[in-house]
Amino acid sequence: MEIKIVGVVGCGLMGSGIAEVCARSGFSVVVREINPELLQKGLDRIQSSMAKAVERGKLSAADRDAAWVRIRGTTEMKEFAGCDVVVEAVVENMEEKKKVFADLDRIAGPYTVLASNTSSLSITAMASATHRPERVLGMHFFNPVPRAVEAGLATKEDIDMGVKLGLNHPMGPITLLDFVGLDTTLFIADAMYAELKDSRYAAPPLLRQMVTAGRLGRKVGKGFYDYS
Ligand SMILES: NC(=O)c1ccc[n+]([C@@H]2O[C@H](COP(=O)([O-])OP(=O)(O)OC[C@H]3O[C@@H](n4cnc5c(N)ncnc54)[C@H](O)[C@@H]3O)[C@@H](O)[C@H]2O)c1
Repeated sequence: MEIKIVGVVGCGLMGSGIAEVCARSGFSVVVREINPELLQKGLDRIQSSMAKAVERGKLSAADRDAAWVRIRGTTEMKEFAGCDVVVEAVVENMEEKKKVFADLDRIAGPYTVLASNTSSLSITAMASATHRPERVLGMHFFNPVPRAVEAGLATKEDIDMGVKLGLNHPMGPITLLDFVGLDTTLFIADAMYAELKDSRYAAPPLLRQMVTAGRLGRKVGKGFYDYS
């Protein structure tokens, strides 16, 4: 099934990021908030995030404009009727999420996949509020949703340090990429994306550029870090 239209329920911190990355990846997006004020706030957040990406040279003005027109904000649940996938990103509360899933089950077409961005709650419990449990899944995006190094949000050293100290991982994700090999990582990402068509697995342009430039990681002496 080809995915063309993505629905996002909630335009808070995560919902606005999910709407942005989906639109920047070429999908049409319908994003819903509970009232016009919160919707405007969420849409403003998307605009300012994309403006920053343009300022940093990560996104062209033309691509920003194209992404922006793909996003439609609404306060109506019924607007999810034409979506192929709907990602729920409302407050982390099971009762609220169950209500959203029951509404989506009623409104969305029978083949629409319903996903939750929950951090901790049971997908099975949310699926039980629908008549299509086999089409309900977890789709957890990291915050911030647009990718961190490429977006210039932090240095690679700070990201590695944050993950080592904050999550107690033996090495940070950028060091790990160099260790695994950027070419291997790109191959895996391309294979996963080809199989699953899930935008989370789409290789970031930065990764592809680095592989093209021969910066494959520790094995060649240079990746994100210099090992010479
Ligand atoms: N904040 C994070 O770092 C993070 C990371 C990964 C996942 N998550 C998960 O993402 C979800 C959203 O978190 P957040 O940080 O974006 O919260 P948030 O409070 O910033 O946003 C939630 C938004 O959902 C809206 N909302 C509530 N009910 C709604 C409904 N029925 N329809 C439409 N909109 C509705 C609220 O008005 C609010 O704007 C949670 O499940 C959370 O656990 C959060």
